[in-house]
Amino acid sequence: MSVTVLVGSQWGDEGKGKIVDILSDRFDVVARYQGGANAGHTIQIKENQFILHLIPSGILRDGVSCVIGNGVVIDPKALLDEIELLKNFGIKIENRLFISHNAHLIMPYHKLLDSLGEKRSDKIGTTGRGIGPCYIDKYARKGIKIVDLLNKSELEKKIRKNLEEKNNLLKKVYEHEELDVDAIVAEYLAFDEAIDPYITDVPSYLDNAIANGKKILMEGAQGALLDVDFGTYPYVTSSNPTSGGAATGTGIPPTKITAVFGIVKAYTTRVGNGPFPTELTGEDGEKLRAEGGEFGATTGRPRRCGWFDAELIRYSRMINGIQRAAITKLDVLGNMDEIKVCVAYELNGKRLKSFPTDIARLNQITPIYETLPGWKKDISNVRSYDELPSEAKNYLDFITEQSGFEICIISVGPKRSQTIEL
Ligand code: GDP
Ligand code: IMO
Ligand code: MG
Repeated sequence: MSVTVLVGSQWGDEGKGKIVDILSDRFDVVARYQGGANAGHTIQIKENQFILHLIPSGILRDGVSCVIGNGVVIDPKALLDEIELLKNFGIKIENRLFISHNAHLIMPYHKLLDSLGEKRSDKIGTTGRGIGPCYIDKYARKGIKIVDLLNKSELEKKIRKNLEEKNNLLKKVYEHEELDVDAIVAEYLAFDEAIDPYITDVPSYLDNAIANGKKILMEGAQGALLDVDFGTYPYVTSSNPTSGGAATGTGIPPTKITAVFGIVKAYTTRVGNGPFPTELTGEDGEKLRAEGGEFGATTGRPRRCGWFDAELIRYSRMINGIQRAAITKLDVLGNMDEIKVCVAYELNGKRLKSFPTDIARLNQITPIYETLPGWKKDISNVRSYDELPSEAKNYLDFITEQSGFEICIISVGPKRSQTIEL
């Protein structure tokens, strides 16, 4: 049995897309378990760059089946655009993409309510993809699911009922014009034909795959610190990117998960608002952003950049159960004279014993740093551990020791070839 959950261990954008693509030639199935088109997973293959939002990053490997689990919220338009884009690159989708009956649909009112909600002063800085409002409806038991596309008359009834309430909300609370009910009904009725071939009983599909000895990789979106339960609430997304979400988001029971693999960026980034203890706001932050191309793959927003935070990573390892990890974007640090690593947090002069997730404390802590020498070399052409400069090895040893997991992949560039396996 081999079911590996791959998680982002920081605030997202760790390079999950690239590493899923690398690992997926060793797996038969890649499954997404949460989030939606807020994710942007980049895969660079030769001169082509693919940014996937909904379809698992395994789709670029022939013979790998891709699953979108019940925990994912699906914008049908974004999904069809992505399918089209992949087909235009000659990638086969039929009989390779399996979408859960029970995944919820993002509706136009979810996107609108997301952007209207963000007009307030204490905004989260969401991606505007309707994620929060869709999960709200799911848990309020008003959501519309993929399976609803199969029954046109019921689908129409559900959309009309929901829109009655949403239009009221739009008019009375947000003073926004109402949405055109008939247009939305017509648009969603039409999705049935396009999406029908992919609709699958995912728990049974995965159960069969496991019974037949297939290897499964679960691709997390976002990152641990954006988890609605374990992240820096309320500056989080509305799902569970941590490894526990893989079970509830697909129907694979926890007893069948055999490994948890973390994707760890060699420094830290965050998009959107919320606390970020090791953030660099000056020249070093600009340098990391420029060297790392740190601009959102979904929204294009500049990412906030800062030093590696071992306190945060230890917390992430604990809640995810990370055993082995890939360190990504090590090449980006190649221009730094000195590199800092946050090894602990202090609050009111005392070292904290654990990572504080309440933002009141997190906004007040002082990060304690250790400073390591930089290697001042371009390592993007290095292909083996032995060839790495001694300062880079020293940095890896230090963060491994601080983090408490084994590093088995080092990524030194966006391409498949820029990968060192240990
Ligand atoms: P994801 O959301 O975790 O899949 O990460 P994103 O795709 O949003 O952001 C990671 C960015 O870094 C993408 O532009 C990748 O092509 C790029 N990338 C991934 N690994 C490396 C690496 O090791 N070095 C460099 N320089 N870029 C990388
Ligand atoms: P990948 O999978 C980085 C952030 C948003 C915002 C917060 C809530 O590419 O790592 P949402 O639209 O989900 O309601 O926004 O979460 N966010 C991400 N940040 N990478 C992502 O995905 C993200 N998905 C959401 O910027 O702060
Ligand atoms: Mg991303």
